[in-house]
Parts: sequence; C-alpha cells; structure tokens
Amino acid sequence: MPEAPVQADAAPPDSIAARYARLLHRAVLSDDPLVVETALAEAAELGREMMRAEIPLEEVSEVHHEALVDLAQAHPQLTLPSIAHRVTAPLMEAYMAYSLSFREQLEHRTSVILNARIDQIRRLESIGTLAAGVAHEFNNILGSIIGFSELLTDEVDQTSPGGQYLQHILQASFRARDLTARLLTFARDMPEVREPVDVVPVAAETLELLRATLPVGIRLVLEPLVPQAWVMADASQIQQIIMNLCINAADAIQVRDGRIQVGIETRVESTPTEWLGEHWTEPPNDPPKTQVRLSVSDNGEGMTMETRARIFDPFFTTKAPGKGTGLGLSVIHGLVTSMGGTISLDSTPGLGTRFSIDLPALTGTFEPGALDENAREAPGPATKDDEP
Ligand SMILES: Nc1ncnc2c1ncn2[C@@H]1O[C@H](COP(=O)(O)OP(=O)(O)OP(=O)(O)O)[C@@H](O)[C@H]1O
Ligand SMILES: [Mg+2]
Repeated sequence: MPEAPVQADAAPPDSIAARYARLLHRAVLSDDPLVVETALAEAAELGREMMRAEIPLEEVSEVHHEALVDLAQAHPQLTLPSIAHRVTAPLMEAYMAYSLSFREQLEHRTSVILNARIDQIRRLESIGTLAAGVAHEFNNILGSIIGFSELLTDEVDQTSPGGQYLQHILQASFRARDLTARLLTFARDMPEVREPVDVVPVAAETLELLRATLPVGIRLVLEPLVPQAWVMADASQIQQIIMNLCINAADAIQVRDGRIQVGIETRVESTPTEWLGEHWTEPPNDPPKTQVRLSVSDNGEGMTMETRARIFDPFFTTKAPGKGTGLGLSVIHGLVTSMGGTISLDSTPGLGTRFSIDLPALTGTFEPGALDENAREAPGPATKDDEP
C-alpha cells in the first residue's frame, strides 16, 4: 500500500505528535515487515522521549488518539477491524518504553535518596566514633590532672590560697569527667534496651549536657509538673529526642532573650461516654490510659503552614546547606512511633513552637535496672508499689 500524506495539521512537523502520526501511518499501512519494524522501533524511542520530556500519560494517549483520527480521515476505506491489530503494536511499543523509562527514572531517584541517607548514617557513625575516641583520650588526660591534683592536696595547706585554687581545679576536673562520661554514653552505638525509664531525671541530665553547648542568651528550663514520669523506653533514645527538639528550638531562636521550656506531665486519656438517643454508652471496662507528655516549647521564629506540613519528611530542612540535614524530626518521629507514642505540634510564625510527645505511661513506681532479664521479656514490668 502506498504511504498516504499525513494530515497532522496542528502539530509542527517535528513535534512528538507529528512524528507519532507519521510512524502510525507507516506501521498500519505498509505491508513491508522492515518498514513496520522500523516504525515500531521509532515508537519505542518516542515513548522514551516522551518520558524524558515529562509528558503526562494522558497526553501520550491523546497523541495516539489524534494520530488515529488523522489516519481514519485520510483513509476512509480502512475499517477499524482490518487495522486494529496494527494500531495496537506501535501504541504498545510507545507505552512500554514510556513506562520502562519511568521506572528507570524512579529507580534512579530512589537510589540517589538512599545513597544520601547511607552517607548520612555513615557520617553520623563516624562522628559518634570520633566523639567517643576524643572523650576517651580526654578522660585519660583528666585522670592524670585529677590524680596529680589529689597528690598535691597532701602537700599544700588546704586553707592557703594555693589549697583553695587546688580545690577549684579538682571541682572543674570532676565536672569535665562527668561531661565526658555522658558524651561517651551518648556517642556509643548501644543496642536498644527498653526498660522502665523515669523521664524526669533523664530530661534533667540531658538539659545539663545541652546547657554547655547552647548560646548563653538562651535560657533552658525544665518544668516537670510531676515528680516522676515512667515510660517503657531506651533512656538514650529519650535523651536523643530531647536533644534534637532543644537544638531545633535553639536554632529557631535568633534573639538573645530566648527561652526553651521542657515540660513533663501525665495526662489521663478521657474515654467519654456517648449519648445514643436513649441512653449513654457504657464506660469501657479497661482503666483509662495514662500518657506521659513531654513538651518542648520555644519563643523562636515559629513555622509557616508549608513548613509545618513537611517537617517530618526525611531531609526536609529550611536551614542553610551544611547547617541541617533535615533528619532530626524524622528520626524523632520514628522513635516515638516505635514506642507506641504520638508527636504533635503547635506553631505560630513569629511567636514560637511547642512540640508535644505523648508516650504510654507505666503506672507504679520502678527502680531503674530493677528488672531481671526474664522480667524484661515479660509483658508487664514488675512494680515495687502498685498504687499509682
Ligand atoms: N522549634 C522549631 N521552630 C521552628 N522551626 C522548626 C523547629 N523545629 C523544626 N523546625 C523546622 O523543621 C525543619 C526540619 O527539622 P529537622 O530537625 O528534621 O531538621 P533540621 O533541624 O533542619 O536538620 P538536622 O536536625 O538534621 O540537623 C527545620 O529545618 C525547621 O525549618
Ligand atoms: Mg533538627
């Protein structure tokens, strides 16, 4: 059959639509298998091109549809059943190439994100190792400072100015030793151990560690409304959550009189009864659930609605390159969820932000480390005192 002129009037001759119309005509009208084969190969190339040009799938169908209408108008003698099988082949080629390159692009994007995440984990690991190494070396140096200072206290009169200076040296060295010990705990890659943890002292200890690193203009206060708040957790993860939230808060405070407030309270989840039109629903038999609420509030710059919507996305950051990786909150979200808790926030641009984390509370009083291995595996922790 001779090749008929193509009436792709609207499309410029080299546009994707015009090229597709031409190859469709060739594939449908030619009896030469080589011509048909070439047209199909071109259809596959066009499919890949359409993907590269990010043409949406609906438009790909549109291109095919228009070419088909052209064909029908140019060759009224062709009835659809006689050409149906030939029409399908180029369409399939184009579609398949389109979806294959879509997949390739998707795989490429995923691997870029994955590699970035692996790099990040490696970087964090090496920072942890470095911090642990430095802390370890530093501990040795501190050991000799403390040792020799203690030897000197035997030589020097304690009431003399020299004796008092020595006491200051010793006190400062003990503080430094305390700090390195905590650094070591923090940096070491320890396996997760869930056990009853009182959030109050963990928060106090974390804040002390943080105070040494925050700018002096920022006040960091702990305001627990309860003397104890027990949850089932890994203490170092609670520490990590508080640290990340406070560092974010400090970053959001650009004024000198900043304030970060860490609150701890317990809340009883209300399970309201419901009016069914005739009577109230029975209150549930289960005792109401108690939650420990850990909150971190700041008077920083707050967040816009767009930022709020994306903060838990991994790698989302509004910080300058090199300042933030955008992993802090996504890690926190993962930790809180794995503990059976929830995280929520209130934020007003210009006024500040409050993050609230609710974790299932353990009722009773516990002693850290009081559990033996068997008890740790058992569903309920051993309580020293059953009264809430
Ligand atoms: N307290 C806050 N006030 C204002 N914006 C905040 C606050 N906490 C988080 N954000 C916003 O959420 C974004 C994501 O926070 P996230 O902790 O996940 O990453 P990051 O702090 O940018 O980087 P990273 O924690 O990995 O160093 C921040 O870039 C910031 O825009
Ligand atoms: Mg952060």
